[in-house]
Amino acid sequence: MSNRIGVGLAGFGTVGAGVYKNLARNADLLEQRTGAGFEVRRIAVRDPGKTRDVEAPSHLFTTDPSDLLADPGIHIVVELMGGVEGPFQFVCAALRAGKTVVTGNKALLAEKGREIFDLAREMRVPVFYEAAVAGGIPIIKVVREAFVGNRFEAIHGILNGTSNYILTRMADEGLDFAPVLAEAQKLGYAEADPALDINGWDAAHKAIILASLAYGFWVSPAEVLVEGIERVTAADMLFASELGYRIKLLASIKADPRGDVEVRVVPTLIPDSHVLASVNGVFNAVSVRGDVVGEALFYGRGAGQDPTSSSVLADLAEAAAFQQSPRRCVGFTAHSLYRRCKPAMETVSKYYLRLGVQDRPGVLAQIASTLARADIGILSVIQPEGIVDGSVPLVLTLHDAPFGRMRETVRELTGLECVHGNPLLLHMETFA
Ligand code: NAP
Ligand code: HSE
Repeated sequence: MSNRIGVGLAGFGTVGAGVYKNLARNADLLEQRTGAGFEVRRIAVRDPGKTRDVEAPSHLFTTDPSDLLADPGIHIVVELMGGVEGPFQFVCAALRAGKTVVTGNKALLAEKGREIFDLAREMRVPVFYEAAVAGGIPIIKVVREAFVGNRFEAIHGILNGTSNYILTRMADEGLDFAPVLAEAQKLGYAEADPALDINGWDAAHKAIILASLAYGFWVSPAEVLVEGIERVTAADMLFASELGYRIKLLASIKADPRGDVEVRVVPTLIPDSHVLASVNGVFNAVSVRGDVVGEALFYGRGAGQDPTSSSVLADLAEAAAFQQSPRRCVGFTAHSLYRRCKPAMETVSKYYLRLGVQDRPGVLAQIASTLARADIGILSVIQPEGIVDGSVPLVLTLHDAPFGRMRETVRELTGLECVHGNPLLLHMETFA
């Protein structure tokens, strides 16, 4: 005889409807595996009259998410509405009402994770969030459970499918950013408002969650270096390829031996030889390096109805296990082994720098001496023939330097009479 577990769905969009559909599809399997029979008792939406691809009985729908909390037969609420303030109020009210929370909302956790988990601890009610990072890839369980006996040396991830699709097509077909973005929107990969996909913040929200879980303190969005992919051109893809690299929107999370944690999400040159360089299209991948396990790679679909709802089903199974036998874990455990986030300006990296310069004698010497005064060494130089908009591109790769000094030097270079337009500075990741 299985336990009946009442579920309330807050949100019946791409993911919420997928959860309902797949819960029905695999109800028998889940029941046999978990000993729990899930029953969706209420569904909150904005517009109950909307035509939907996935159908549910009309009496389940409400426009008021608090109806889910008022139903004593609902043990688990699944927050899949999107946004931050409304879901924050809802999740806090759910925890205070003693309802286990499942959410796929990375923006909510990145902005309000500290407050949510403080409350979860106080109320002794868990919050599960596997779908919030990398869609169908079970990376939260990996970091929280499978690798619990490891210190995390580094986590690198391609965490946004839309930007990876755009960069892949730019690299493989020599296309420019704008037409590929339009196509990604037409194909339904990018959001109707694709700003967070493109400006790096969707991936940054996911990186904040991974970093916080790995290092035991809640990382604040203000401490993360985030840049979007808008300024990367097809020509940069070509230059990177000549140098033996691919450009990806990469989340880099690592700790130094003093316990300072570095988190950045920026378009990054990745060596062709690294496995993340071959993660293409809408796929996501996360590479985790632990001091005991070594390097491990997780690859799969980072978005979409079915992959994301697969992660929500896993959380429902875990939430049901908690209902049957409460455990210590509330979803996030703070600890004190790591101290703080390193300010972005202090972080050290190699760089790719593209400048537009005048084609005349002495220009390269002037640029090289500006870099030398800043104690920044040149790794390689490409200056292809051909004038574009009155200047020639000059591409340099540069040795390790602190980001603050590098940025200041780029400002100085931009002020030189021989340098035209806006330079592009990208990080290079060596995975050392
Ligand atoms: P969506 O398609 O826009 O669906 C949102 C749902 O929430 C809709 O059913 C909407 O109602 C309902 N809703 C919104 N505000 C509401 C309110 N104030 N009261 C009641 N209902 C409300 O969003 P989604 O793509 O499923 O994403 C849901 C969450 O999962 C987001 O946090 C997203 O970041 C996360 N996520 C999405 C994916 C993905 O691939 N889509 C992957 C991982 C994580 P109506 O249907 O009436 O409009
Ligand atoms: N818009 C996101 C992406 C999907 O393109 O990866 C959910 O995180």
